[in-house]
Amino acid sequence: MSKPLSIAVAGLGTVGTGVLKLLATNADLVAARAGRRIIVGAVSARSRNRDRGVPLDAVRWYDDPVALAQDPGTDVVVELIGGSEGPARALVEAALAAGKPVVTANKALLAIHGAAIAELAEARGIPLAFEAAVAGGIPAIKGLREGLAANRIQRVAGILNGTCNYILTVMREQGREFAEVLAEAQALGYAEADPSFDIDGVDAAHKLAILAALAFGRPVDFAAVHVEGIRAVTALDIALAGELGYRIKLLGIASSTEAGISARVHPCMVPVAAPIARVDGVFNAVVAEGDFVGRVVLEGRGAGAGPTASAVVADLIDLARGRHTPVWGAASGALDSAPAVPMDRHRGAYYLRLMVLDRPGVIADVTGILRDESISLEAMLQRGRAPGEAVPVVLTTHDCEEAAMRNALSRIGALDSVLEKPALIRIEPI
Ligand SMILES: NC(=O)c1ccc[n+]([C@@H]2O[C@H](COP(=O)([O-])OP(=O)(O)OC[C@H]3O[C@@H](n4cnc5c(N)ncnc54)[C@H](OP(=O)(O)O)[C@@H]3O)[C@@H](O)[C@H]2O)c1
Repeated sequence: MSKPLSIAVAGLGTVGTGVLKLLATNADLVAARAGRRIIVGAVSARSRNRDRGVPLDAVRWYDDPVALAQDPGTDVVVELIGGSEGPARALVEAALAAGKPVVTANKALLAIHGAAIAELAEARGIPLAFEAAVAGGIPAIKGLREGLAANRIQRVAGILNGTCNYILTVMREQGREFAEVLAEAQALGYAEADPSFDIDGVDAAHKLAILAALAFGRPVDFAAVHVEGIRAVTALDIALAGELGYRIKLLGIASSTEAGISARVHPCMVPVAAPIARVDGVFNAVVAEGDFVGRVVLEGRGAGAGPTASAVVADLIDLARGRHTPVWGAASGALDSAPAVPMDRHRGAYYLRLMVLDRPGVIADVTGILRDESISLEAMLQRGRAPGEAVPVVLTTHDCEEAAMRNALSRIGALDSVLEKPALIRIEPI
């Protein structure tokens, strides 16, 4: 067997210790698949004295993670600190500059600085691997970039944030409101103390930006992703969606159209029978559509020590074998430069839920506004009667343009008889 591959791991939190445990538990199997042993030569974390449940006596310790890049015995640098700036970014840049291949699970870093980092890697001819950055244990990167490499991808979509999917699942199953379920998820450790990256859709948008770059062979463009989270989803909308034959999911969807590439993250109503509608709890799913392969659905655990370590070590095995591809699947000169399509130009069907005063003429006012914006109704649902009181009215539309829907919504929201901000959820025939 060849000389062992010596790795340096920066970050010994959930993922870092998971990687060390996997490498120890499956050492022989990993060595057989990698063609050589993979050994941890050096590590870095903030607190040297913390017991991490893994033996660290025989490894070189660095207080400064950036210094790992200069460790003379290291073949590959593994960045598992996290964050788009600070030590994670400095380490990845220093490692590439020092000619060391990098493995990272850091979606924030890749979404925001991935274009420049990929250029640096390409200029130096150094591999940069990031299977763990999207959908944890699901081999979404390899699946799209390598497995589906022969296809023109038309669309890639997914449930990319387990925290949101968990919250929406519990809200539906138990008929409870968002704030209460979020607080419980935080107490159970399923949501961060500061949950905004997850519930406001930012984490899913980081991952979608990476998937879109791979699917369409273009540099990552986080700024072009339209992002909405799940704070405004109510138990009432989830229940009404069920009556209409839908489930509400936070999806990331990137599509290639004649006008360019659209990328958006927002709550969606998907038909109950769609495979993605049944991906519940903390699970993630990625759906890709290629011109020759058709539809491919991948599902699995999108986070956690074991699944994420599985993806990190798969990258290490590739590097040990000398397997690597350009970051976005093609050399920078061969990348696509299709423009980004703004959200205003999105076309699709919509669900609107209004709380209106139950009095004559209200529905006529609303449908009149929709008519003015050339929006045609698919169905209308009004439950019960309570003259002079608030009742929910649900409208679903045929496909129309987002800009027209936005105009209609602001006029509908301004009507005296409409008592709350209307709820809008896009319907996706996924
Ligand atoms: N957790 C998941 O399920 C998951 C899934 C997919 C991708 N990821 C990604 O994997 C990466 C790591 O996530 P995680 O959940 O493992 O994070 P974590 O548990 O918070 O661990 C972060 C680690 O980085 C170390 N660290 C922080 N600042 C440092 C510094 N300045 N110098 C040296 N070490 C420093 C911390 O040291 P101390 O331990 O001493 O504080 C800790 O060991 C992130 O990019 C994340 O987005 C995570």
